[in-house]
Amino acid sequence: MELKIALLSGDGIGPEVTQQAVKVLDAIAEKHGHTFTFTKADVGAIAIEKTGNPLPNETLEICKNSDAILFGAIGDPKYDNNPDNAIRPEQGLLKLRKNLGLFANIRPLTTYPTLIHKSNLKKDVIKGTDFVIYRELTSGIYFGEHTSSSDGKTASDSCTYTTEQIDRISHLAFKAAQVRRKKLTLVDKANALETSRLWRKRVTEIGQQYPDIKLEYLFVDNAAMQLILKPTQFDVILTENLFGDILSDEASVIAGSIGLLASASIGEKTALFEPIHGSYPDAKGKNIANPLASVLSAAMLLDYFSLHDEAEDIRIAVEKSIELNISTPDLNSTNHFSTTNVGNFLSDFILDDENTFYNKNNIDLGQSTII
Ligand code: IPM
Ligand code: MG
Repeated sequence: MELKIALLSGDGIGPEVTQQAVKVLDAIAEKHGHTFTFTKADVGAIAIEKTGNPLPNETLEICKNSDAILFGAIGDPKYDNNPDNAIRPEQGLLKLRKNLGLFANIRPLTTYPTLIHKSNLKKDVIKGTDFVIYRELTSGIYFGEHTSSSDGKTASDSCTYTTEQIDRISHLAFKAAQVRRKKLTLVDKANALETSRLWRKRVTEIGQQYPDIKLEYLFVDNAAMQLILKPTQFDVILTENLFGDILSDEASVIAGSIGLLASASIGEKTALFEPIHGSYPDAKGKNIANPLASVLSAAMLLDYFSLHDEAEDIRIAVEKSIELNISTPDLNSTNHFSTTNVGNFLSDFILDDENTFYNKNNIDLGQSTII
């Protein structure tokens, strides 16, 4: 298969981690006889510095003319600490999502047996957790009217949802539940918000078309608690934009590191694949950031094009790296490996998994992984 992939590395650790995902995709292409071509484009703070625009037109055009987008990270503390900035890096990502109609953000969460002890949560609580969050991505409070009064004393962000916006992601979430454990939990705040009541009404109606799916409802405050109290109860979580943003960061604690969580954003035009983590500015350029979320996002990209064996190759390599403790400091505080070395291990493993090419002694010493 030939795939044109737009490479939007973005800010902070984005370039370091996406570089490993590209390395891994190159290995997959070589092994399975595919042709993946990458076109780099600027987005976020780096794009503001170069062009004054967090999403230059050229970047948008490259994305629209690609089959998929591999996205790194966005954000720079320079902008976070100055709320008066009218132009902010994150606008690049939000505009991209809106322009491409990427209304469904899919964030899977699984636990790796060898990492269970890394989580701050108890082993017995998280063992066997396996769910996916379907987060609505192009509407709600993020995209409502934002105002601030001229005296600087009042501000507002409005939250609007239409039935059409609710329906399209709900169908995707129900379909996902059908090929999983057949349970869907709608997370809302229907005891306080009109938009949430609309979500509940529509999702209940849509649920009648999926009689095989057990539909449950949770208020978001309770959901936040249930996620860490009994995460194994969830299969598919369906929720609106802001709740999904918050709950997915919370859920990453179950996995042991936010550096493990990948996502796919799909909708009307080119699909986008990105880690759920941010730009981690303190780690920028240090070669310590965990590339696995980016690499696993690349696996989701392959799944999207029905290259399931290829995606599985990536997941097996990732599991092997975790099992052998070939991990960055977030997962391995003593013998840790660099971002680049983790990427090298994964791509070498994909190309040569028949052979025991990695040097166990070197691994134990925390040195190079590959002979
Ligand atoms: C995410 C991020 C973004 C969001 C930011 C960078 C705008 O936190 O993808 O979860 O809030 O959607
Ligand atoms: Mg977020």
